[in-house]
Amino acid sequence: MDKSVKIGLMGLGTVGTGVCKILQDNREVIFERAGTEFEIAKILVRDLTKPRAVEVEEGLLTTNPADILEDDGISVVVELMGGLEPAYQYIEAALSRGKHVVTANKAVIAAHGARLIKLARNQGVDLYYEGSVGGGIPIIKPLRESLVGNRIEEIMGIVNGTTNYILTRMTQEGAAFDEVLKEAQALGYAEAEPAADIEGQDAANKLVILASLAFQTPISLHQVYCEGISRITPDDIAFAEHFGYIIKLLAIAKRRANGIEARVHPTFLPKEHPLASVNGVFNGIFVRGDAVGELMFYGRGAGDLPTGSAIIADIVDVLRNRRRDSHHRVETLWTHIPVKPMDDVGTRYYVRLHAQDKPGVLAQVAASFGAEGVSIESMIQQGRGQDQPVPIVFITHEVEERQMQASLKRIATLPSIKDIANVIRVEGGMPL
Ligand code: NAP
Ligand code: HSE
Repeated sequence: MDKSVKIGLMGLGTVGTGVCKILQDNREVIFERAGTEFEIAKILVRDLTKPRAVEVEEGLLTTNPADILEDDGISVVVELMGGLEPAYQYIEAALSRGKHVVTANKAVIAAHGARLIKLARNQGVDLYYEGSVGGGIPIIKPLRESLVGNRIEEIMGIVNGTTNYILTRMTQEGAAFDEVLKEAQALGYAEAEPAADIEGQDAANKLVILASLAFQTPISLHQVYCEGISRITPDDIAFAEHFGYIIKLLAIAKRRANGIEARVHPTFLPKEHPLASVNGVFNGIFVRGDAVGELMFYGRGAGDLPTGSAIIADIVDVLRNRRRDSHHRVETLWTHIPVKPMDDVGTRYYVRLHAQDKPGVLAQVAASFGAEGVSIESMIQQGRGQDQPVPIVFITHEVEERQMQASLKRIATLPSIKDIANVIRVEGGMPL
């Protein structure tokens, strides 16, 4: 075996702790598989006095990034701090100094991935980021390596564990949103700023990474339509159930004749769809390639050990490449495919309105939909409200976003409509 390789760990929170635990428990077998021993030589944290969930040798912790970045004895940097800055700056500095980098930072890879990959290639070092999408699920390596013989047509995934945990508990137990979010935070699933989970940006970052790899074209975060789960109410969940659907936050990328669709939004999925049974912190990523057909990747999308498992796999890959002097054996090639504007994207829709319960209201709403070419597939109106507004709910046939938005504008001006309570896209065909 080679002499022990030195690793600099940046961050000892949920994932950093998971990495250390796995190394403590599976040390021998990991060394054997890597073909070399390695050791964590320094750990960068913010607060030296904080209690840690793993035993750390004295002198290992530091608050000075230079102790890792400027130590020529450290050849691999594992960035697990999170956030764009200073993480991006540290990753760039590490690559520039000829160090290999492993990271789970989807924000940095989504924003700067293409640039960092180029820098790593120029420096002759590896940049691996399996933990950035899907926690413990291997998905980056399959897209980058195992599926190279395919033209990927579609990716549809539940890629945020926190929101899937919240939606599952709301659906199965009627739990309150805020209470379940606190649990997800306590379990270490949520981002430091949980709005990133709730409002869909975390899933959008992950979609940028997946779609860029799958379609081999650089996609920017601003090209991804993004809507989170904060507007989902128990009423929406109950109506979804009534129509035979379940609500999931989906990240969707599809190759179309005139460009790529890239969007993150809550979605009505038929209960029979394979992604409908992905519950709790689990993630599921459905991929369709022209040769392989349909694939489903499933596993824990967040948490210390699952994500730690992906990080260890990347470290072992780096060390195996290092032994064979074969860094950058896998090329990331770029073409340039346009991303379609959301206005041009076609889906079915669920629309929930509150209206006065009086004659002619339905006809007015139907006429507003009809004027923009929106055709209704099913509808329910509940109860008699007397003076109170009543819910009217529609599922439409497939229309373009611009048609739906135009019809909603018309509906909003009708005097008998109190409000448009929610609009949710519908995917995955008709329920059985
Ligand atoms: P975390 O629990 O918040 O831990 C962050 C760690 O980084 C802490 O140890 C913190 O130090 C340190 N840190 C943060 N900013 C720093 C700075 N400016 N200087 C020095 N140290 C700093 O985060 P996490 O949940 O482990 O997530 C880490 C990364 O993995 C993120 O990119 C996240 O998106 C990604 N990820 C997380 C999960 C998950 O399940 N949590 C899953 C997949 C990917 P202190 O401990 O001293 O505060
Ligand atoms: N906050 C993220 C999630 C962590 O809930 O999925 C895993 O990337």
